Amino acid sequence: MQEKIKELLAEVEEFKADTKEHLENFRIRLLSKKGKISLLFDEFRTLGPDMKREVGQKLNDLKNRAQEKLDSLKEKFDSSDSSSGPSGDISLPGETMTTGSRHPVSIVRNRILEIFGKLGFTVSDGPEIEDDWHNFSALNFPENHPARDMQDTFFIDEKDKIALRTHTSSVQVRVMENSKPPIRTVSPGRTYRNEAISARAHCFFHQVEGLYIDTGVSFADLKQTLLHFSKEMFGPDTQIRLRPSYFPFTEPSAEMDISCPFCKGSGCNICKGSGWVEILGCGMVDPAVLDNCKIDSTRYSGFAFGMGIERVTMLKYRVNDLRLFSENDKRFLEQFKSAL
Ligand code: DAH
Repeated sequence: MQEKIKELLAEVEEFKADTKEHLENFRIRLLSKKGKISLLFDEFRTLGPDMKREVGQKLNDLKNRAQEKLDSLKEKFDSSDSSSGPSGDISLPGETMTTGSRHPVSIVRNRILEIFGKLGFTVSDGPEIEDDWHNFSALNFPENHPARDMQDTFFIDEKDKIALRTHTSSVQVRVMENSKPPIRTVSPGRTYRNEAISARAHCFFHQVEGLYIDTGVSFADLKQTLLHFSKEMFGPDTQIRLRPSYFPFTEPSAEMDISCPFCKGSGCNICKGSGWVEILGCGMVDPAVLDNCKIDSTRYSGFAFGMGIERVTMLKYRVNDLRLFSENDKRFLEQFKSAL
C-alpha cells in the first residue's frame, strides 16, 4: 500500500492539464467514488491498527494534495475563461452604477459637530443602553419624581433599571465622571422614547448634547455660543430667543427658539404664524449635577444644551414628516446628494 501511495503521489505532482476534460479525467481517475484514492481508503479500512497508524497520515496527505491540485487547476481554467475575450453583446449599454448619498441626519450631525468643533468642543459618546444613574439619577431626576414622566422610557430590565437612553444628556455625566474641567464637548447619538409614531414624533431619534464646564462660565456664554451656532447653521440673519423652562439638570433652564428660517420671522404655517420655531433645550448645569459627578460646584460652573438632530434637519431642509428619515425611500434620500 505504501508503494501505491508513493506512485499516486508522483502521478499527482507530475500531472498537467491542457484542457478542462483532461482535468475532469484526473478527478474521476483519482478522486471520484470509484477513483484510485477512494479505493485505497477502502483498502485502508481493512488494515490492522499498526498498519493503519503507519499509512493513515500518508494516505490523507495524498488525498489533500490531489484535491489541492484539482482546485488550483480548476481556478486557472475558470479565470482564463472569463478573460478569454468578451461574451455577449458588447454594443449593449453598460449597467449604470448609482452613487449613494449621505443621510440628511448625518449631514446635519456632521455640520453641528463642525460648528462646535471650531469653538473647541471635542466629540464624545456613550452607550445607548444606559443605567438609571447616568440617564436619570445623576442628572438630578429624583426617583419617583414626575420629571421622569417627561421622557417615556423603554426599560430593558425594570428591576435593575436598565433602559434605552432617553436623551444624550447621559453622556454629560459620563464625561464629567471621567475628566476634569475645563470640559467642552458635544455628544451626538441615537435616543429612544416610547412614543406613538407620527409626523412629529418617533420612538427613536438623534440628539446632540453640548457641555461646557470651566471657572466663571455664565449664562451670557451660553447665549452667545448658541447664537453663533444658529447663525452658522441657519444663516447670518438668524435670531434667537430664550424662554424660561424646566429641566431637572439645569438651573436656570430655557428653551431656545430661532427666528423661522422659512418666513424670516414674519409668520407662516411652519412657525404657525409666530415667527419663531423651537430647536433646543439648554441651561446652566445644576450644581447638584456637578456634585454628583465629583466636580467642585463651588469652583466650577457650566452650561449644557440638547437638540434633536431630526428637528434641526426638518427646519434646515423643510422636511415635514419625521417618518421620512427612517423609511429608506430612495426618492427622498436622493434629494440630499448635493447637500454634502
Ligand atoms: N435632555 C433634554 C431632552 O431630551 C434636552 C436638554 C435640555 C439637554 C436642557 C440639555 C439641557 O443639556 O441643558 O429633552
